Amino acid sequence: MNTVSSKHDSSELPDAECDAFQALSSRRSMRAFCPDKPVERRVVEQILELAARAPSGTNTQPWKVRVVAGATRDRLCARLMQAHETEEADCEEEYHYYPEQWFEPYLSRRRQLGKALYAVAGVAKGDHAAMKQQLGRNYRFFDAPVGLLVCIDRRLEVGSWLDLGTFLMGIMVAARGFGLHTCPQQAFARFHRLIRAELDIPQQEYVVCGMALGYEDSAAEVNRLATIREPVDAFATFFWD
Ligand SMILES: Cc1cc2nc3c(=O)[nH]c(=O)nc-3n(C[C@H](O)[C@H](O)[C@H](O)COP(=O)(O)O)c2cc1C
Repeated sequence: MNTVSSKHDSSELPDAECDAFQALSSRRSMRAFCPDKPVERRVVEQILELAARAPSGTNTQPWKVRVVAGATRDRLCARLMQAHETEEADCEEEYHYYPEQWFEPYLSRRRQLGKALYAVAGVAKGDHAAMKQQLGRNYRFFDAPVGLLVCIDRRLEVGSWLDLGTFLMGIMVAARGFGLHTCPQQAFARFHRLIRAELDIPQQEYVVCGMALGYEDSAAEVNRLATIREPVDAFATFFWD
């Protein structure tokens, strides 16, 4: 098999709506999309083609993506929503995204995000029904017309999960070039059994996460959430002699 392909041909791509700096700085997790503004299949293909330029250890390219739109998306969402509401499906995390015991400084950052998100989503403190409803919106891809389910072969190691992360970022940045927005969604992982059955995903793969893709609903309050970051000197140490 020839694994050495020629240089990527970007001649078919339209002019990007923003440059790399703008794409990085304008990327945010959107949690409300315009359901009636469709995304062309060719655009999704181009986004995936660009994202697949991500580096990966020994060029193994471990990413696997199921793209859902139209009737398949609607059916999957309906089943997930029902499972979430009735808790009928035996949902289970197949891998640990988070540690069992939280600790600082991550605990505070997580709390800060939760508080800010619930404030813009109109969820009052301790209102478990509203919290559940907010979580449930994940399973409609926050009304985005396109959903991605991202998987990886379970025989691969943690290094390939790093590769997957760079690929995910590529999707999110490339989407900005088309004027689109995204939300990465780990919430899907707990319903891997249902998703597996619906989309015929083999047992050999982990369902790592989902991702909503579409045009932001700029009128939605929940999209006003602007998360903050630690300054560079809080996480980077320079040995700059
Ligand atoms: C792998 C991954 C999974 C995530 N899963 C969810 C999710 O299930 N639901 C959700 O609302 N946000 C999810 N997020 C979004 C994070 O909450 C968000 O990235 C973080 O708060 C920073 O905000 P920003 O993306 O707007 O900059 C996820 C992010 C990542 C990277």
